[in-house]
Amino acid sequence: MSDGPTLVVGGTGMLGSQVVSELMSRGKQVRALVRPGSDAAKLEAVGVDIARGDMMQPDSLNQALAGVDAVITSAAGYTRHRKGDSPEIDTVGNANLAEAASRAGIRRFVLTSILTCDQTPQVPHFWHKKLMEDRLGQLGVPYVALRPGAFLDQVTRSGGDPVAKGRVMWFGSPRVPLTFVLTADLARYLADAVDSPGVEGQHIDIGWDRPMGMQDFADIAGRMTGTRIKVRSVPMPVLKAAAAVVGRRNPIVKDMATMMAWFQTGRYVADTTRQRDVFGPPPTAEDAIRRLMGTLGHSVRG
Ligand SMILES: NC(=O)c1ccc[n+]([C@@H]2O[C@H](COP(=O)([O-])OP(=O)(O)OC[C@H]3O[C@@H](n4cnc5c(N)ncnc54)[C@H](OP(=O)(O)O)[C@@H]3O)[C@@H](O)[C@H]2O)c1
Repeated sequence: MSDGPTLVVGGTGMLGSQVVSELMSRGKQVRALVRPGSDAAKLEAVGVDIARGDMMQPDSLNQALAGVDAVITSAAGYTRHRKGDSPEIDTVGNANLAEAASRAGIRRFVLTSILTCDQTPQVPHFWHKKLMEDRLGQLGVPYVALRPGAFLDQVTRSGGDPVAKGRVMWFGSPRVPLTFVLTADLARYLADAVDSPGVEGQHIDIGWDRPMGMQDFADIAGRMTGTRIKVRSVPMPVLKAAAAVVGRRNPIVKDMATMMAWFQTGRYVADTTRQRDVFGPPPTAEDAIRRLMGTLGHSVRG
């Protein structure tokens, strides 16, 4: 551990803002790279030092990284946090960040990667994470990559509150198991990873005690809240046909459809052995779903 601040890249985002809170609660000095024009007020209000800059502007990264001890990045272009964002941020922007971190000689770089990214060249936003892991390794940056499963708090939010609506959206069979995480847990692990010993160069899968299908989620959340939650699933052939048309204009749609097809193989599953060693026992599915229900404001039985 050294004295400089930890630079968070993506600190205005859904995951990144929780990473900032986790670091602050550990008494860390936090600096956030925030693009010109993005709202930094919430970060400033809790005492975060704001470095205005952009992953697409290498000079701004040199300034943001001056005197920094460690970096955590959750930034992404494909999520389109801002209108006009594109996967170029995940290729060119990430490469710029890796190179700037190498020049600055930081002690640790913590990357938010994606589970199975090294097996999925057909899913662009997964593969871009694997390229970033490779780049950090080639440059000799002392990095650790956490590879989380799908964010359940986001999956359910995109179709509305599943308990209030009595339904949850899915694509393909809801019975194929996959790994989910909660962003609150991942934010804690990312912050821990800044000082975890013995993780350099490692890729650590992040998940729960077991993978599960969307149907299992609906059943467990339904039992906990005393409601009936239906899974409304779009068949894969319908998704693929829609992606073939819309994907011509909007490549991210095709990217997401390929990801859903990958989920259907049953191979989007974490091996949580290393997670257990470094961060402690993974949450059980029931514990995570209970907490998610709590954050959605539902009282839970038992
Ligand atoms: N969703 C999932 O199921 C899942 C699963 C595994 C891993 N992940 C990973 O988890 C992360 C998601 O984080 P999130 O939810 O916090 O994302 P988010 O809410 O979409 O936020 C994206 C962040 O990236 C920043 N950003 C974008 N382009 C930038 C640039 N050129 N320079 C500097 N900052 C830039 C944005 O800043 P502005 O305020 O300037 O827009 C924003 O803070 C991603 O890395 C994703 O790949 C997600």
